[in-house]
Amino acid sequence: MIEKTAASAPGKIILFGEHFVVSGYPALVTAIEPRAVVRVQRSENTTVVKSGNIIGVWGKGGEQLYPPKNVKNHLQPLHDMAVKLLEDHGVREHFKAEIDSQIPGSAGLGSSAAVSVAFVKALSDLYGLGLGLEAIIKYAMLAEREFHGTPSGIDPHIAALGGAILYNGPGKYSRIQVNHPTPVAVLHTGVRRKTSTMVAHVQDFAAKRPDIFRELAELYGQVLSKGLHSLEQGDVKELGKWMTVNHILLRALGVSSDPVERALNDLLQLGMYGAKLTGAGGGGCVIAVGPETSYSRLRGLPRHYQTFFTTQIACRGVVSES
Ligand code: PMV
Repeated sequence: MIEKTAASAPGKIILFGEHFVVSGYPALVTAIEPRAVVRVQRSENTTVVKSGNIIGVWGKGGEQLYPPKNVKNHLQPLHDMAVKLLEDHGVREHFKAEIDSQIPGSAGLGSSAAVSVAFVKALSDLYGLGLGLEAIIKYAMLAEREFHGTPSGIDPHIAALGGAILYNGPGKYSRIQVNHPTPVAVLHTGVRRKTSTMVAHVQDFAAKRPDIFRELAELYGQVLSKGLHSLEQGDVKELGKWMTVNHILLRALGVSSDPVERALNDLLQLGMYGAKLTGAGGGGCVIAVGPETSYSRLRGLPRHYQTFFTTQIACRGVVSES
């Protein structure tokens, strides 16, 4: 009997199409390092989920033992997802899970989905369930819905599949071949925000001004096809240009903010070809591509930025770890 397992899944950046994807348009998303690792082991009487100094403990009947019942348990969505997964497969056992995510949270980098996906894979390995990628995505979606309301599902798909995909809704995606090494700079504005609030803002805009939203979405469609073409050709200069145009469309949807605009300008000042917010916006991260020499200049960014890094796109999806 296996006693312990571990799995990891990558973060993500959306190169083109956040928010438009919620309204049914395709988005281009790619997996990036850093990753989230989840370690699970068998447990006797209680189920424990731990992430840094946040701990959740559940008793034999699934009742919350810690924190006290009247205190919100931030790990509840992961517990509920795991319970459903085990119930569906006739497993009546307890486990301890430890989450170690290097992906900044609430920043547009898909940290919660990476954790959910790695969690499902680690449990699948522990109990010998043999879940495939589609099943892993399905269960991770349960936690994502509890965390974020009505997510498009883009995050768990890319965390499980890895590489780069054109995503068009649950189960509807095509893999994009990335044949050229493509570094991307990621800069965290330091402002955390809620995906569900930002999504609600855009959906409200789309409902109140369907004519303008449709026009912006049509423009977005053209930007996506140009951007995709430049990525496939390895034309980083063009790719950057279309990323900036996508950002302008997101600005028009009202999901940029002063910190995002400052981060964008600071990156462009370093000589980047182009930049955009990634994820829900309002804060979170800004991404940029540029000539090779521009990435070392990130160290010269204003000192108030605490998180910035350069990463490669199209890294591997969920995997078992030893
Ligand atoms: O900020 P994130 O990582 O939650 O990404 C959100 C992307 C949106 O398109 C804004 C929402 C979604 O569910 O696709």
